[in-house]
Amino acid sequence: MRIAIGSDHAGTELKSAIADEVKKMGHQVRDFGPEESAQGSVDYPDYAGAVAGAVAKKDADLGILICGTGIGMSIAANKINGIRAAVVWDEFTARMAKQHNNVNVLCLGSRTTPINRAIELLKIWLETQFEGGRHQARLDKIQKLEHS
Ligand code: RB5
Repeated sequence: MRIAIGSDHAGTELKSAIADEVKKMGHQVRDFGPEESAQGSVDYPDYAGAVAGAVAKKDADLGILICGTGIGMSIAANKINGIRAAVVWDEFTARMAKQHNNVNVLCLGSRTTPINRAIELLKIWLETQFEGGRHQARLDKIQKLEHS
């Protein structure tokens, strides 16, 4: 798969670790930045827009966004039509995010989730299949909200 990834200044270290892991799993990674060596703070909506925009335009199959909590990234990414972004923090939320919600942009908090745990959650999310059925009907209703 083609996976777009981005973070803010709080998430660059976790972003590098996640990007390495995604590549090891055999996927293509497009890193929207910022670089781990970059100085100073950046604004998470800029990176959320770039990554979620790539997913919405189908330039990427899935996206991963990291900030201190994952919250700002998820709020920003969900402003883009077609994006289902969610913060996950344990095995259950990582699995449900795909199984029930078909989350296409995974959000992680670098200040809440240690690197090894984040990698476990990433793997669960990538490996879990969307269940469809009644959950697709609910996602269709969410999509209608985009135009309301
Ligand atoms: C940056 O300090 C912090 O606000 C950001 O990383 C994120 O946690 C926002 O939701």
